[in-house]
Amino acid sequence: MIQCVKGTKDLLPDSISAWQFVENVFKTVSSRYGYEEMRTPIFEKTEVFSRSIGEATDIVNKEMYTFEDRGGDSITLRPEMTAALVRSVIQHSLMNSSPTQRLWYFGPFFRYERPQKGRLRQFHQFGAECLGSPNPESDAEIILLASDIIRSAGIGEIKLLINSLGNTAVRAAYREELVGFLRSKQNELTEESRNRMDINPLRALDSKAPQDIAALENAPVITDFLDSESRDHFDAVKGLIRNCGAEIVVQPRLVRGLDYYSHTVFEFQSSALGAQDSLGGGGRYNTLFTQLGGKETPAVGFALGVERLLLILENLGRSFGKSVSTDIFVAYASTAEFDEAFNLCNQLRQKGHSVTIDLLRRSLKSQFKEANRIGARYTLVIGEEEMKNRTVQVKNMTRSEQSERSMETILDFEFD
Ligand code: HAM
Repeated sequence: MIQCVKGTKDLLPDSISAWQFVENVFKTVSSRYGYEEMRTPIFEKTEVFSRSIGEATDIVNKEMYTFEDRGGDSITLRPEMTAALVRSVIQHSLMNSSPTQRLWYFGPFFRYERPQKGRLRQFHQFGAECLGSPNPESDAEIILLASDIIRSAGIGEIKLLINSLGNTAVRAAYREELVGFLRSKQNELTEESRNRMDINPLRALDSKAPQDIAALENAPVITDFLDSESRDHFDAVKGLIRNCGAEIVVQPRLVRGLDYYSHTVFEFQSSALGAQDSLGGGGRYNTLFTQLGGKETPAVGFALGVERLLLILENLGRSFGKSVSTDIFVAYASTAEFDEAFNLCNQLRQKGHSVTIDLLRRSLKSQFKEANRIGARYTLVIGEEEMKNRTVQVKNMTRSEQSERSMETILDFEFD
């Protein structure tokens, strides 16, 4: 038996209604905020990601699905959307049509990570990006949109952590200080954090290893390095969010795993997720457009992990039922009545009902069993007598009532 690739998942009909539920939440809530959907290819030229996410990040270094195609080009299955979306916005000069763009997306993404609960190699993200404004109101809008989506999906208990990485000069000064600190502690750090020290020191703060956590207890924090511009921006974002009644926790160690961020970064964490506790996150990325060859365009956005969102809903005991509910099952006593039944089925569908018919030419008894199994609310039966009289038996499956109708009037019958 051929199985699906490790770290990927088949979505069987049983789980589809949960997906449709969350997809519907994404769509309705983001349109309330004026966001429009955008779709891009699932693979891009590798440089789209290597130039933006950062050569020193785990994603680019060890997690990308990169291959040479038959024409010799280096192609990468998208590990995230932000860089791909920016590539597309630049290519189509979207910013020329309006100085701000509000965009959302949903789809599959690919990272070669060690699969575990809540961590897949093909996973799905819902995300939104607000392009064009350098102002704190766009950071606040994006964070409120993300919170609204999580709440609208039925998740109340979630921690929202926020931090500021300041501007480029702030980060450079902080980085220098942090590297000095890490050097002084190098004997206490894990090998992984020691290796990160020179390449991507901020990521050492992200380590979950107890040894690193202890060694970094007194590490300098970036919030102490913010200049007045960065501090004002951060204070304004926090103020706007708190004004709207949302709770935030300032976490000066929050750095996130992608290099394109500046100023605001944030993350939604849930203890229900276990080790992979990040439901989603995002931040401001003011230099990504120029990194990808576009005009300077300030922007901010976030992405939520859809499988993780569904894991939390599952933990909460939410169930979503079947994705299709059948109104009517059309049954036939023998193959002699099949053509009539098939035709009736078709006409009822044209009237907008959800109708099925047995495709295996089974006995009437088996057809009733099938009608029960799929939860049809009505079963219409055509037998020899009914064919002769141009009638049909109407069985209300919930009330166990039966009546007779003419073939003509059945099309206008109220199947309530
Ligand atoms: P990210 O933090 O790398 O950010 O991913 C966002 C979310 O995607 C994570 O919090 C997690 O829920 C989910 N996720 C990531 N990797 C996996 C995986 N292997 N399996 C399951 N779920 C996963 C970004 O991707 C940024 N593009 C977010 C952003 C948008 N920043 C600005 N705009």
